[in-house]
Amino acid sequence: MADSTKVPHTTTDAGIRVQSDEHSLTVGPDGPIVLNDHYLLEQMANFNRERIPERQPHAKGSGAHGYFEVTQDVSKYTKAKVFQPGTKTDVLMRFSTVAGERGSPDTWRDPRGFSVKMYTDDGNFDMVGNNTPVFFIRDPIKFQNFIRSQKRRADNGLRDHDMQWDFWTLSPESAHQVTYLMGDRGVPKNWREMNGYSSHTYSLVNAEGEKFWVKFHFKTDLGDGNAHLTQEEADKMAGMDGDYHRRDLFNAIADGNYPSWTLYWQIMPWDEAKTYRLNPFDLTKVWPHADYPLIKVGKLVLNRNPTDFHTEIEQAAFEPNNMVPGIGLSPDKMLLARGFSYSDAHRARLGVNYKEIPVNRPQSPVHSYSKDGAGRTIGVTDPVYAPNSYGGPAAQPDMGAEAGTWYSDGDMVRAAYTLREDDDDFSQARALINDVMNDDERERLVMNVTGHLCDGVSEKVLVRAFDYWKQIDGPTGDKIEKAVREKLGGESKAKGMASALSISG
Ligand code: NDP
Ligand code: HEM
Repeated sequence: MADSTKVPHTTTDAGIRVQSDEHSLTVGPDGPIVLNDHYLLEQMANFNRERIPERQPHAKGSGAHGYFEVTQDVSKYTKAKVFQPGTKTDVLMRFSTVAGERGSPDTWRDPRGFSVKMYTDDGNFDMVGNNTPVFFIRDPIKFQNFIRSQKRRADNGLRDHDMQWDFWTLSPESAHQVTYLMGDRGVPKNWREMNGYSSHTYSLVNAEGEKFWVKFHFKTDLGDGNAHLTQEEADKMAGMDGDYHRRDLFNAIADGNYPSWTLYWQIMPWDEAKTYRLNPFDLTKVWPHADYPLIKVGKLVLNRNPTDFHTEIEQAAFEPNNMVPGIGLSPDKMLLARGFSYSDAHRARLGVNYKEIPVNRPQSPVHSYSKDGAGRTIGVTDPVYAPNSYGGPAAQPDMGAEAGTWYSDGDMVRAAYTLREDDDDFSQARALINDVMNDDERERLVMNVTGHLCDGVSEKVLVRAFDYWKQIDGPTGDKIEKAVREKLGGESKAKGMASALSISG
C-alpha cells in the first residue's frame, strides 16, 4: 500500500479530495450503494467514455517525438523556413498499418504509414506518407472501396483474400504497389529500419518565385535499411507479440537508441512535368532515380517517447493539407482529395477543435477567425469578423508566389489521366522484380503471393490473378500459377470466404 503521506491525495476531476480508492459509499458495510457517491459515479462515467473512435484506415500504430534538422543548402528550391540551412524543428511521427484495427497485430502484411508533423515557425507542416513510394490506385473515387476490400466482409466480419484480389485484379493500376507489398517490404522487421516516402509529388517555390516539383524520400540510417520479416516469422510474431513494432520503437528510444532518417528530394523542373515520358503526378509510378537523382536535405531523429499515448499519439491529427509557405500540393488527384479527407476525419473523430489538442497545436502564433464549437478552450477576442476596422488579423496578399498553384483549364470531365509515352500499369512493377530484387527476393515474392492466393480465393478471381501476374512479368506469373495449382491440387473450391487461418492481410 502506498504511503499516503508521500503521494498526492486522490481527488475528483473537480479537485475535491476523495476519501477512499477502495470502498464505495454504502448504507452500512453490507447495505446498498448510494447515489451521492459522486466519485464512484464519476469514475464509472469517465471509464465508459475512455475510448474514442479509431482512425478509419491506419488505426493501429504508434509514434514518438523528435526533431528535423536541415544539413544542406536547398534554399534554391524553396523559401520554406523549415528547409533553410541549419534550421532545427520539433517533430511528431506516427507509424501504422493500414487495414488492421486498433488492436490488430503489427506484423500483418500491409503498407506502413509514415506520418511526420513538423511544428515550423510558419505553422504545422505535415507529410503523411507510407513506406512505399507508390499507391494502389490513382483516383480518389476508388479509395473508399479499396479500403473496404482490405478490411472485413459484411456477412462474417472476416478479412477475405478473395475480396482483396477481386479488387486488385479489377484495378490493374494496383500492380506496382501489390508487387511491392508482396515483396519483403510488405512486412518490415520494425519501423526504425524502413524508409518513408511522400509517394505523391508536391510543389516548392523559392524566394525568387521559381517553382519546382518534388518527391520526398526519408531513408533509414539504420543497418542496411529496410529489414524485413519472412511471412513465417510475421505469422509467428502476430501470435507471440501483436505489439511487436510498437514495443520495439518505444524500447529503442527508452534505451537511447534514437532512430533516424536522412531526407532526400527528387526535384523536377516545373516545365518538364508537361513533357516527361511518364505522368509525374500519377501516384502508381516512381520517378526513376536515373532521371531525377536524390538530393540530400537533412536528418530526422526520434528521441522522446510519449508519456500519454492517448493525448500524444491517438489524438494526433495529421493532414496532408497542412502545407506552409514554400511548399504546396500538386495536380495529383489523390493528393487533392486527401486535402479534404483528413481534416474531415479529424472533425469526426476528435471534434471540430482538434487543433487545440496540445499535440496538434502549432508552435507558431494562431490568428484565425474560427470561433466557438465543442471543446474550444482557447479564448477568442474581438473583432470576430474580417474585414474590420478594429485591428483584427489581416491576410497578406504580398506573400509572393505560392507553391501549390498551377495553370489549369478545360471542360469538366470524369476521365483518367491522359496517357503518355511510357505510362502503363506494369512496367515499373516488372522493373522492381527483374532489375531490383535478387533471386532470393523473387523467390519469396512468389511464395508470398502463392500463400495469399491459396487462402480463400475463388476460381474466377484466381484466373484473373494469374493473368495479372503474367502481365507484370511472364515467368513470375507462370511460377505463381504452377505453385498455386500444385498447392490447391486443382481448381479452387473457395467461395470467396477466407479460412479461419487467414491472419496475414
Ligand atoms: P534504381 O535501381 O535507381 O532504384 C531502385 C530502388 O529500389 C533502390 O534505390 C531502392 O530504393 C529500392 N529497392 C531496393 N530493393 C528493393 C526491394 N527489395 N523492394 C522494393 N524496393 C527496393 O531504379 P529506378 O529508380 O529506375 O527504379 C526501379 C524500380 O525500383 C521502380 O520501378 C520501383 O519499383 C523501385 N523503386 C524506385 C524508387 C524510386 O523512387 N525511383 C524508390 C523505391 C523503389 P530506396 O533506397 O528508396 O529503398
Ligand atoms: C490515414 C484517407 C491515401 C497515408 C487516413 C485517414 C483517412 C485517410 C480518412 C484517417 C485519418 C485519421 O482519422 O486520423 C485517405 C484518402 C486517400 C488516402 C481519402 C486517397 C484518396 C493515402 C496515401 C497515403 C496515405 C496515398 C500515403 C502516401 C496515410 C497515413 C495515415 C492515413 C500514414 C495515418 C495518419 C496517422 O498516422 O495518423 N487516410 N488516404 N493515405 N493515411 Fe490516408
